[in-house]
Amino acid sequence: MSTPLIEVRDLTIRFAKRDGSGKPAVEGVSWSIERGRGLAVVGESGSGKSVSALALTRLLPEPPAVYDSGEILIEGRDVRTMNEYELRAVRGGKIGYIFQEPATSLNPVFTLQTQIGEVLRLHRPDVTPAARDAEIIAWLNRVGIVEPEGRLRAYPHELSGGMQQRAMIAMALCARPALLIADEPTTALDVTVQAEIMQLLRDLKEQLGMSVLLITHNFGIIRGLADEVAVMFRGKIVERGPTETVLRDPQHPYTRALIDCIPRLGAKRHRLATIDHEALAKVI
Ligand SMILES: Nc1ncnc2c1ncn2[C@@H]1O[C@H](COP(=O)(O)OP(=O)(O)OP(=O)(O)O)[C@@H](O)[C@H]1O
Ligand SMILES: [Mg+2]
Repeated sequence: MSTPLIEVRDLTIRFAKRDGSGKPAVEGVSWSIERGRGLAVVGESGSGKSVSALALTRLLPEPPAVYDSGEILIEGRDVRTMNEYELRAVRGGKIGYIFQEPATSLNPVFTLQTQIGEVLRLHRPDVTPAARDAEIIAWLNRVGIVEPEGRLRAYPHELSGGMQQRAMIAMALCARPALLIADEPTTALDVTVQAEIMQLLRDLKEQLGMSVLLITHNFGIIRGLADEVAVMFRGKIVERGPTETVLRDPQHPYTRALIDCIPRLGAKRHRLATIDHEALAKVI
């Protein structure tokens, strides 16, 4: 078998208190993603999804984060043995991130031209300075921003939430990462914009042949982007399998609870709040 693009083996991370104590936020987590494939990590708030994703490029503050065990292999190399220079090439280069809030990636005081241009400068030596604007326009166009020429000098606040999300996707993808990590990419958006952005991500994954790590609490958005799914509960993976199989025939009570919570169009309230954690913890 070929080496997966990324492989996490038995990863345990905790946030240490001053006295060194602290229980793990991520415990014994293992998964891998092949080139061109998608994995969804699904779990509710605080289950350890973002911590495990940030660990992939050592973006957690150390301390307090402590890697107690495990390996994080990118094309067979452990990121924990990489130096700062190598890590910088991985961050935003080999691995791109998009987050729920565009504000975490887009800087309010710089234009799209400056911000996307900087990513090209850092990670795309094949794009000459003279060719940068054309490349930025091509990416803005690709993510569905209309009249991209006129948006070059726009500041993030001049764009709608959905457009900011698209600009953030352009910024992450123009580096041509092998893996895109989308951490709750649409949670802050309304349902129709959410559907558009998910469709855009599905299209881009196909066109670019990239791998995707999708992080979400919502089982309802993963189809078509995630070939496999890993369900996280209190820092551990409780179920893993092909997306269609897990959706059709979930084995674990927590997975079933999450699938029952899929928000439906027109539903008045998100039912995630009704999961009975104490009862679940007893059966798990
Ligand atoms: N920098 C930090 N210092 C201390 N504890 C942290 C830190 N970052 C995360 N944690 C803790 O780790 C646990 C897992 O957090 P994580 O952010 O991975 O959750 P999540 O599954 O991404 O949740 P959400 O859906 O709300 O984003 C939580 O208990 C959180 O409080
Ligand atoms: Mg998170």
